[in-house]
Amino acid sequence: MASKIAVIGTGYVGLTTGACFSHLGHDVVCADIDADKVERLNRGEIPIVEAGLDKLVEDGLRAGRLRFVLGAAEAARDCDFAYLCVPTPQAEDGSADLSYIEAAAREIAPVLPAEAIVVNKSTVPVGSTKVVQRALERDDISVVSNPEFLREGSAVHDFLNPDRVVIGADDQAAAIKVASLYLGIPAPLIVTDPASAETIKYAANAFLATKISFVNAVAAVCEAVGADVNDVVLGIGYDKRIGQDFLKPGPGWGGSCFPKDTKALVRIAEDAGYHFDMLKGVITVNEQQLERVVEKIQRAAGGSLEGVVVGVWGLTFKARTDDLRDSPSLKIIDKLIARGARVQAYDPTVSRPLPGIDVRSDPYAAAEGASVVALLTEWDEFRWLDVEKVAGLVAARQLVDGRNLLDRSAWVRAGFVYQGIGRS
Ligand SMILES: NC(=O)c1ccc[n+]([C@@H]2O[C@H](COP(=O)([O-])OP(=O)(O)OC[C@H]3O[C@@H](n4cnc5c(N)ncnc54)[C@H](O)[C@@H]3O)[C@@H](O)[C@H]2O)c1
Repeated sequence: MASKIAVIGTGYVGLTTGACFSHLGHDVVCADIDADKVERLNRGEIPIVEAGLDKLVEDGLRAGRLRFVLGAAEAARDCDFAYLCVPTPQAEDGSADLSYIEAAAREIAPVLPAEAIVVNKSTVPVGSTKVVQRALERDDISVVSNPEFLREGSAVHDFLNPDRVVIGADDQAAAIKVASLYLGIPAPLIVTDPASAETIKYAANAFLATKISFVNAVAAVCEAVGADVNDVVLGIGYDKRIGQDFLKPGPGWGGSCFPKDTKALVRIAEDAGYHFDMLKGVITVNEQQLERVVEKIQRAAGGSLEGVVVGVWGLTFKARTDDLRDSPSLKIIDKLIARGARVQAYDPTVSRPLPGIDVRSDPYAAAEGASVVALLTEWDEFRWLDVEKVAGLVAARQLVDGRNLLDRSAWVRAGFVYQGIGRS
């Protein structure tokens, strides 16, 4: 049965949620506070790079099942469900800042129809369901936790084909109603209490970050002992208890979620009396990894970065997105610039100017005249570059492959000194 759904916040999560629910046949109104964004969305213009999203928005707009409005109250006044998809950035003390969630809840509280259900899709610390309930000051409204696990770059696919749907509620009837929204999506459904649902989201992100930090630490060992981390990962990954996923060495994890969510979980644990030293180690390894990549680039430049031109391939925190939030590439570039380097960069989804970076329009232009070229985001197009052409453009044939993406032998054959991660 079709439901009326208000989605508050049209970022990566909210826009995907709204478009996918309308695709599933629900009647969706999405709200944002950004008037320009709302206007553009109503014209079918998608402000982010996300495969398949434009088609779903276009279909929803045309079918009249998807609209965009300014302000949360406007969307929520006639809904069965109000989905909160607003930011939960990191506060100064490492905890999650709930001010956007509370503000959105206060905005919709006076207009929510009787017995509507408010659903938290933002990533929020344990206890936030109660925080929202308090901000609403409405006894007739149930608040349910329904964390989101989509990955940027494949958000639509992940929303419609999730590994699981998690619903946390004290009110079983409300949980069943939220579950009914996902009818037609073949995924295991986990119905639990709000604290467990909220913990599942943080534990999932912390575990994924742990896997990446683990493989980056193993890569450091590989470099020290002369092993090749790619072969090591293959060797351990065939063990079904370990698997291959998320064991890709690189410049460290970033993006809009892992950095803030790992710190928030450390803080949640700390507040509850548990010192999550293991997760603190995971964060430290990640910070060290940025430094390790900078050191590689500095070594490739002959020991000093003062006045050195570095060509960078890739700016986003991962491929298939335009998201620059907490991108390891940008953090590494900041460090290079601080050591005197001049950075010219290319990314397929970034053309706007960025402070201190000469953003160029193709990978060859980014490599032109560079004394070191560093690949920092795993965009597929970098695999297929014309190696000889790059060799003819650079000032020195020094390559740092921060994602172990390139065909090492082809670059070595063209005269490049190749440094990967965890392999020489
Ligand atoms: N991005 C991801 O990959 C991802 C995945 C899973 C979960 N999450 C979580 O989902 C939440 C949202 O993340 P995001 O990446 O979509 O954020 P985002 O910054 O891309 O989008 C948030 C949107 O909310 C809007 N907004 C803020 N206050 C509002 C209000 N009162 N009314 C209406 N709109 C408002 C902002 O203008 C913005 O467009 C966060 O808690 C995040 O941790 C993100």
